[in-house]
Amino acid sequence: MFYSAGLQKLLSQALVALGVDTPDEYAVLEVPENADHGDFSCNAALRLSKLMQLPPRVIAQKIIDAFPENNIIQKMEIAGPGFINFYLEPSYTLQSFVSYAPENPITPLSRKKICVEFSSPNLAKPLHVGHLRSTVIGDSIQRILKHCGHDVICENFLGDWGTGFGKLVVAIEKWGDPEKIKNNPIEELVILYKKFVEEAEKNPELDDMAREAFRKLEIEKDPMLFKKWEWIRSVSIDQLNEFYESLGIYFDWILGESFYASFNAPTLKKIESIGEISEGALIVRFLDEQGEEIMPLILFRRADGATLYQTRDVSHMFYCESEKIDEFITVVAHEQSLHFRQVFSTAKRLGCTMHMEHVGFGLVLGKDGKKFSTRKGTGVGLDDLFEEAKEKVSTIISDRVSDFTNEEKQTLIQDIALGAIKYNDLSQNRNTDIVFDWDKMLSFEGSSGPFLQYSFARANSVLQKNNFLEDISIDVFSSAQILPQEWNVIKKILLFPEIIVSAAENKRPNIVAEYLFALAKLFNGFYQNISISKEEDISTKKFRLYMVKKFATTIKTGLSLLGISAPEKM
Ligand code: ARG
Repeated sequence: MFYSAGLQKLLSQALVALGVDTPDEYAVLEVPENADHGDFSCNAALRLSKLMQLPPRVIAQKIIDAFPENNIIQKMEIAGPGFINFYLEPSYTLQSFVSYAPENPITPLSRKKICVEFSSPNLAKPLHVGHLRSTVIGDSIQRILKHCGHDVICENFLGDWGTGFGKLVVAIEKWGDPEKIKNNPIEELVILYKKFVEEAEKNPELDDMAREAFRKLEIEKDPMLFKKWEWIRSVSIDQLNEFYESLGIYFDWILGESFYASFNAPTLKKIESIGEISEGALIVRFLDEQGEEIMPLILFRRADGATLYQTRDVSHMFYCESEKIDEFITVVAHEQSLHFRQVFSTAKRLGCTMHMEHVGFGLVLGKDGKKFSTRKGTGVGLDDLFEEAKEKVSTIISDRVSDFTNEEKQTLIQDIALGAIKYNDLSQNRNTDIVFDWDKMLSFEGSSGPFLQYSFARANSVLQKNNFLEDISIDVFSSAQILPQEWNVIKKILLFPEIIVSAAENKRPNIVAEYLFALAKLFNGFYQNISISKEEDISTKKFRLYMVKKFATTIKTGLSLLGISAPEKM
């Protein structure tokens, strides 16, 4: 299934023949930047030099000589200090291409049950661009892991519990207008929350009231408060669901902190065994063997008995483990990295063996390098952001879609706008701050969502124009004239499954995004100068159409891994 698999196997056999005990460790193949340096290269000889006490070039020759007889490799050569470059047989490449099906999921070495937690907003607060990042990156990671054959659970760990709710309840009681709240719940709640924060700065007693309200809800399970909480939660979730639906994002678990709070009693009992009481509160310290502090201590239970965000997150870890999750991945901004180090370390000390990982990301910046804000200047509302994107797309495409029905046009605008926003985020390294530059995002030429969507649509129209039929066998191709640039496209297409695996291992959708852009550039560059419909040699024509088809399917599958739809025509 991997283009490199056949070679990889031969390389392992050669290494075993040379007496290497752990061949897989050394049989690592890279794709050279320059296609003239072979299809794959390997640095095993350099890495084995110390162990075997021989110069790398000598070992490289020994490896080459130890290769079993095969019909995969055309040529091997030693390069530089001792790299081996491999050139594969065209017939092998062609055979691989004929059986290539990018849309099929990959079979994993070991299938895992993975929980990917993303989005996780706090209820009754406006969504901002930071949440968009978690949502878009998390969704792409879960799609990539699913494509790699894993059993994936998507979780939204809603912030629906804690003193924040105490604040809202107090604010509603003090300043809330029931009529207004009923008509426009989220907006009113956001206003009330903001007012609370402002007032509490002048009057800290309000914070005490909020804490007391939450304590009454959590510890005394006050029925009136419970009812209010339930209502706030349900109107918030309704609104969130609309947002997720418009983005094409679905969750298996929308549980949230309140759910995990019900497991806090046993969690706290466990924490007591490694923690200590300080001024009535339960804390945990993190010390190394010498007793030096590795990271700041953390509070798990306040003196008044109330629990905290981190308490619920530890319960969360134990719940996932009880659900037989092998790997837990949470996609949250870098700002919370200390929180997760503390939570994961605590859970581990208490016996949690599940793999736990925080996948972090940077901020969203405007073109000027400052924190991004939408036209309205609020810097928060995602609705504004989508509206702005759609307006811009609508202007850009207006002359392309004259033969579209109004409905088709609206769908296309929505697809392009979302594609642009998602791709902008996913094509950049998640660890860095990303820049929101509308011109770049909406360009049909550079590295952008619309460019890839357009490349797909164009390939699609070539297939339609030429009445392409899928049932093509290798015999048809054997007499096709394949040009050198075409071989480059074929080989690039064949690397797609390996790219996906690398993106999954690193939890980095930008690996897929960058690959798609490079592939589309390579493909378009070639096909711009060639006419398929006018090609007279039938075998060559069929082969070219087959290539267009595989290119289109690769782009479409790749876009779907980024959560971006691929319109058939645009
Ligand atoms: N609700 C939190 C916030 O908006 C993010 C939750 C992240 N996930 C977690 N397991 N703590 O800041």
